[in-house]
Amino acid sequence: MPELYTTLLTELARFDLAYVHLEATTDEETLVGLRKSWGGTLIVNPVVPMGPDRTDRPAADRWLGLGADLISFGRSFISNPDLVERLRADLPIVEDDPSRWYQGGDAGYLDYSTYRHTA
Ligand SMILES: Cc1cc2nc3c(=O)[nH]c(=O)nc-3n(C[C@H](O)[C@H](O)[C@H](O)COP(=O)(O)O)c2cc1C
Repeated sequence: MPELYTTLLTELARFDLAYVHLEATTDEETLVGLRKSWGGTLIVNPVVPMGPDRTDRPAADRWLGLGADLISFGRSFISNPDLVERLRADLPIVEDDPSRWYQGGDAGYLDYSTYRHTA
């Protein structure tokens, strides 16, 4: 299967794409190999999709070191509307609640709060 994706990425280079986004659905060695097959902007989501680990700062930093240009954050963005500011300032990250993932009703969209600084 790595050969298929290597070929796909090589062919995609003919188009003027803004980026390719990879999810960590295979082992790291394979993903690093795919990085080498794609010379354009690469966004990586560094954890197993819907697995127990959330994309966090260490995982993001690791993948930036392995060659990703950008990192996507999924669940932590749902539960931290100010995620970028939290990462910049090294503030705590609130864990998301899977029972409120966009499944009808309005809970989970606008009710996670930004970080509250205390004096
Ligand atoms: C509510 C929700 C919807 C998602 N929908 C998709 C989807 O449509 N396609 C997809 O490839 N991944 C989807 N994902 C998986 C994410 O892209 C990502 O792989 C996963 O959430 C792990 O990354 P994270 O720890 O940053 O959330 C979804 C995740 C969540 C939480």
